Amino acid sequence: MNAVARGLTSFFLAIFLSASLFAQQSSTSTQNPDWWKNAVIYEIYPRSFQDSNGDGIGDLNGITSRLDYLQALGIDAIWLTPIYPSPQVDFGYDISDYYNIDPQYGTLADFDRLVAEAKKRNIGIIMDLVLNHTSDKHPWLIESASSRNNPKADWYMWHDPKMVDGKPQPPNNWLSVFGHSAWEWDPARQQYYYHRFYIQQPDLNWNNPLVRKAMYDAERFWIQHGVAGFRLDAITSLFEDPTFSDENYVLGPDGKPLINAYGDKRVDTLKTDNLPEVHDVLRELRQVADQTQGRKVVLIGETYLRSVGDLRKMYGAHNDELDLPMDMEVGFINRFDVNMFRERINQAETQINGDEPLFVFDNHDNIRWDRYDHDAHHEDAGRVIAAVLFASRDTAMMYYGDEIGMVTTPPTRKEDVKDPIGVTGWPKEKGRDGERTPMQWNDGPDAGFAPSGVKTWLPIPPSYEQINVTADEHEPDSMLHWYQQLIALKRQDPALHDGAETMLNTNDEHVLSWLRKAENGEAVVVACNFTDQPQTVSFDLAPQGVRGSSPKTLLKTPGAAEPTSLGSIQLGPFGVYIGRVE
Ligand code: NOJ
Repeated sequence: MNAVARGLTSFFLAIFLSASLFAQQSSTSTQNPDWWKNAVIYEIYPRSFQDSNGDGIGDLNGITSRLDYLQALGIDAIWLTPIYPSPQVDFGYDISDYYNIDPQYGTLADFDRLVAEAKKRNIGIIMDLVLNHTSDKHPWLIESASSRNNPKADWYMWHDPKMVDGKPQPPNNWLSVFGHSAWEWDPARQQYYYHRFYIQQPDLNWNNPLVRKAMYDAERFWIQHGVAGFRLDAITSLFEDPTFSDENYVLGPDGKPLINAYGDKRVDTLKTDNLPEVHDVLRELRQVADQTQGRKVVLIGETYLRSVGDLRKMYGAHNDELDLPMDMEVGFINRFDVNMFRERINQAETQINGDEPLFVFDNHDNIRWDRYDHDAHHEDAGRVIAAVLFASRDTAMMYYGDEIGMVTTPPTRKEDVKDPIGVTGWPKEKGRDGERTPMQWNDGPDAGFAPSGVKTWLPIPPSYEQINVTADEHEPDSMLHWYQQLIALKRQDPALHDGAETMLNTNDEHVLSWLRKAENGEAVVVACNFTDQPQTVSFDLAPQGVRGSSPKTLLKTPGAAEPTSLGSIQLGPFGVYIGRVE
């Protein structure tokens, strides 16, 4: 087949798949209590998706105006990073009012309209709930800091100083994730407060029942506004060891403490992360979420953990905690290591009691998937990543712009940095601006992100001329069409939707292959070449109880040959093959 014919084939396949998508969508509606299983969740960084009012900052009405695009992509839900009123030190993760919308993003009425319009398209809206800390401008902190005996005196993690030579020093050596001591001195109270993140993000005291009640009230408020679920920010860091003793230093091979990007001696986080009390709170959050009538509110956790055992616990002994703790082990391997991928996907398949894994390759805190790039293989690498994400048995979480292959574009000068850690850590840590740049809709002014000629909050990356939605819509073999086709298969094909997953050819060092098998017996093989060299794979599926031996192609990377038997499937460099076995 020549290039044009090949292109047209996949173009028509895309049209076919997106047409049948609408039929499929009714069964994955958020009215279905299991809608979140094997779903596709699309993360939007609201500042950067679509600016509707010309202030250079994305907003809710901008997102509403792009819902048709998202529906055609095939997603089930949108996770919005925080849109509450905030001084925006950490771009919304420092909340000063849990019951409203920051005027930069719109109004509560705009939010309600977004929820309603999304619902018409069977898309749920997932709010980011930041429970670990508030902004230092939140009235709770202002009151709490005002004296040692006000009604909210015990709402935050206050601690007396350690006196050294008559001078107050932090109580211990705990570090903020964002650099330097996690303790900030408050002259009025003559005490320190603990902040795991920025100084402007004081940690709440979750031992205080009034704090819990206040947060559960906020959870209820957004459920009443129709949200489909919550992404629980930094959920493992709610509690601190009550002894407040020092952490151990993290030592390098030479026995000396390792130094982080901010120049601090690294310390462990055993006393500040994943303490057992977190599970009590998860159960309480679950009870609130379950008090909705006839509607499933899904709880997703930001869970960077140490082991798959810890991940398993996040679901709760009686499935009464998180629905979807994020599995960060697969997506953040950060290199094409077949063995590691095989092992970790297999762990998710076999060691979390059959619960639903949530795979994440990308978000607003990490370099985009171009971190997997291999020389000239940017797009090819992206296709492999997308195939692993959507063809595995998982709920798939993607980040805006992944579907067109947006590239990380960090600032080149310290004075341009917006994310404060990029200032503290420059040049080792350039901050997270690079993965938060405006969505590239077209090659016109401001890439279609903002009304023409506006100064956008972060610059539009120069790549927008080539990498943008309009260009991909016109290119049959584009990344966007690859994503649409993979997502449509995930929704429609019984084996790829929720079929059991078994790793194949487990000694292969170059190609990651697996079998998906539906309850009705349908079997699909997936093969991803993790190298820049052509590879050939061969499958014997008899041990898996699969009788057929002929592959019927469902999807393959552009240019790959059509295989005639399972005994010889050829893959180009970073090639992907997905076929039903008949
Ligand atoms: C995790 C969020 O993803 C990140 O963006 C934020 O800075 C921290 N939590 C603190 O809220």
